Amino acid sequence: MFVQHLGLLAALFAVAQAKVQYLVGPPFLRGSGKTCPADLKPQGIAIAGIDFGCDIDGTCPVNSGSFPLSGYGGSDGEGQMKHFVTDNGLNMFRLPVSWQYLLHGKSPGDKFDQDAFARYDKLMQACLNTGAYCMIDMHNFARFDGGIIGQGGPTNDQFGDLWSQLATAYASDKKVVFGLMNEPHDLDIKLWSDTCQAAVTAIRKAGADKQMILLPGTNFDSAATLVSTGSAEALLKITNPDGSNDGLLLDIHKYLDENNSGQHAQCTTNNTEAFTELAAYLRKQKRIGMVSETGASSDSSCMTAFCAQNKVINDNSDVYVGLVAWAAGSFGASYVLSLTPTRQGDRWVNNELFSKCVLAPWENSEGGTSSSSTTATATRSATKPDSSSTATVSSATRTPTDNVGQGVATDSKDAPSSATFLKPLTVQATLSQVACLLLGGLIHLLS
Ligand SMILES: *[C@@H]1O[C@H](CO)[C@@H](O)[C@H](O)[C@H]1NC(C)=O
Ligand SMILES: *[C@@H]1O[C@H](CO)[C@@H](O)[C@H](O)[C@H]1NC(C)=O
Repeated sequence: MFVQHLGLLAALFAVAQAKVQYLVGPPFLRGSGKTCPADLKPQGIAIAGIDFGCDIDGTCPVNSGSFPLSGYGGSDGEGQMKHFVTDNGLNMFRLPVSWQYLLHGKSPGDKFDQDAFARYDKLMQACLNTGAYCMIDMHNFARFDGGIIGQGGPTNDQFGDLWSQLATAYASDKKVVFGLMNEPHDLDIKLWSDTCQAAVTAIRKAGADKQMILLPGTNFDSAATLVSTGSAEALLKITNPDGSNDGLLLDIHKYLDENNSGQHAQCTTNNTEAFTELAAYLRKQKRIGMVSETGASSDSSCMTAFCAQNKVINDNSDVYVGLVAWAAGSFGASYVLSLTPTRQGDRWVNNELFSKCVLAPWENSEGGTSSSSTTATATRSATKPDSSSTATVSSATRTPTDNVGQGVATDSKDAPSSATFLKPLTVQATLSQVACLLLGGLIHLLS
C-alpha cells in the first residue's frame, strides 16, 4: 500500500537517519540499531532527598529526609524527571535511599516496612514511567549505624537479603539498575568484595538476571584511587552465579574540590588525569564502569573544571558507559552542588552549570543527544551558595593521595530553595525527540 511512496519515504528516511546519526548514537550502541534517547549512553542526575541526613558512619535517621515527590514533603522529583527526559533527553536517574529507610525501625534481615517501601516504589515508578534507567542507590557508606557490613556490622547474608528483597520487587524491570552501595570507605577491600559478591548473587538468584549492578570501591569510590586501593582488582573478580561478569560494572565517583568531599564551592582539580588513567585500566581489563556520582558548584572555577572533567568522561564512553551528576531532587537552588531546575511559570529552567557542564559535554560527544533545550539556561546571581559551604581554599591542604572522600554535606538539607536569576530564558522543542518519532514512524511504515 505504501509502495508508490517508497522513493519519497526512502529519501525522508535517509534524511532522518542522517539527522539521527548526527544527533545520537555512541559507537557501541550504533551497531545495535538503537537510536532513540532512551537507548543512548546513560546520562542522568540524582533525585536526592530520602538520603538527607545520612552520615558517613552509616547512620541515616529516617525522618531527616525530604522525600522528593510532591505531597511527600520534598520537591517535585517527578516533574523534574519528566522535564529532564522531555526537554533534555536524559535517560537515567539515581534514586538514593537508605537501608534504615526501607526498614523503618526494623532490623537488618527483617522484611521491609511495607509503607516505606511503597513510598520508595512510588518514586521508582515515577522514574520508570519516564522511560529512563532508574538506579537504586543504597546511601549507607558500607555501614549500618556505625557497623561495617561484613566487617563487624550487619552480616553479608543480611546485606544479601536487603538486595534480594529489592531485586525480587524489580526482577522484571530491565531498566532498574542496582547501585549496591554509596561510597564505601575505611574498610578491608577484600572483605568488602565478598560482601558485594553476596549481594550480586542474591540479586541474580532473585530473578534480576540481566540488570546492571554497580560495584563500588573504598575511599568513597574515588576515581583517583580505585586502582591504587586494590578496589578495582578485588571488585572485578566478582561474578554472576553462571561465572560470567555480564552487567557487572565498576562504580565510580569523584568530586573536584580540595578534599574530594563535594563540600567546597571552589574546584581545585579537573580530574582529567584520574579519569584518563582509570579509562586505560578498564580498557586493559576489558571492563566498563559507570560514573554514578560527580558534581560541582556554580563557582567560576567549576564552570571550567567540571566541564573539562565531563568532557574527558564523555570522550571515554567506550569504558565509561554513563555519567550521573549530583544532584537535583529536594535540594534547593542554593545548595552548593545544586543542579535542581527551577519552575518558572509553566516550564522548568536548568541552571547554567547543568546546561554547560553536564548537558553540553554529553551532547557534543559522540554519545550525546542534541536536544536544543540547552538554550534554556539561567545565569545565577553572582553571590556564592550558602555561606556555610563556601570554601576558604587553603593552598596547602590538597592531599596528594586524594584520600579523603565525600562527607555528609551532600546529604544535608542545608539548602533553602530560592534562586535569583538574572536573564530571561528561551526554551525550544526537543529536536532529537522529534527526529526519533519521525524515524520510528518511517521504520514502521517501511516494515
Ligand atoms: C586540567 O588540569 C590540568 C592540571 O592542572 C591541566 O594541565 C589541564 O590543562 C586541565 N585540562 C583542561 C581540559 O582544562
Ligand atoms: C572535607 O572538608 C570539609 C570542609 O572543610 C570537612 O568538613 C570534611 O570533614 C572534610 N572531609 C573529610 C572526609 O575529611
